[in-house]
Amino acid sequence: MNTMPLLSWHMVRVAQIYQAAFAGYPWFEPLTIEEVLQRLEPLFVKPGFTGCVVVGDGRIVAAHWHDIISIGQLRKDRGDELAQWVIGNGYDEGLLIWERELIVDPEYQRKGLAHQLRNEFLQHLIGYRTPLLVLTRLREDNFGSIKSAQTINMFDTGVTKPASQAPLKHHYWALTVG
Ligand SMILES: CC(C)(COP(=O)(O)OP(=O)(O)OC[C@H]1O[C@@H](n2cnc3c(N)ncnc32)[C@H](O)[C@@H]1OP(=O)(O)O)[C@@H](O)C(=O)NCCC(=O)NCCS
Repeated sequence: MNTMPLLSWHMVRVAQIYQAAFAGYPWFEPLTIEEVLQRLEPLFVKPGFTGCVVVGDGRIVAAHWHDIISIGQLRKDRGDELAQWVIGNGYDEGLLIWERELIVDPEYQRKGLAHQLRNEFLQHLIGYRTPLLVLTRLREDNFGSIKSAQTINMFDTGVTKPASQAPLKHHYWALTVG
């Protein structure tokens, strides 16, 4: 299946995929389309917002996007421990990228689209031609997301945050490029 850049006018279709994807494993979160759009609108205007979609059977069936974040904003959003991990490892010298979302329409899951989108993401990161650090948050039971992150050599920072569904935890993962 082909990929193309994610554009702001794709938001409604992306919202439909988000709604369907988060209604299933491991989230089981019932969201209205309005609630999803309220989440997406501020994300689509973040600094450095860039993404990619997969097109299959004539429509978008999966999406992935990232943005650029400052160390100050990272500390504000994710807390001191992760910011200190970044600084302690000297990664605050380069570009900081937050991998914001990866969603696949449930009808198209388990067909390798997460792998495809994360590989496309990696090629995009290489295209920045500058040393950079990618960070993201993965809940420890999100096996599809973890496996596809591992295939592009993302690694667990060891920094965690309790998930709302105790005793599960979110782990912050990272990737260095350049
Ligand atoms: C997580 C998600 C993006 C995976 O997408 P996908 O296209 O089904 O993933 P892929 O088909 O590329 O599979 C990637 C790997 O994970 C495995 N996998 C996928 N879903 C899985 C599941 N529910 N349980 C166990 N393994 C799973 C696949 O078998 C594959 O493993 P392999 O490398 O050994 O072949 C998709 O399930 C989704 O949209 N989930 C809801 C939203 C979400 O959680 N997004 C990520 C937020 S961090």
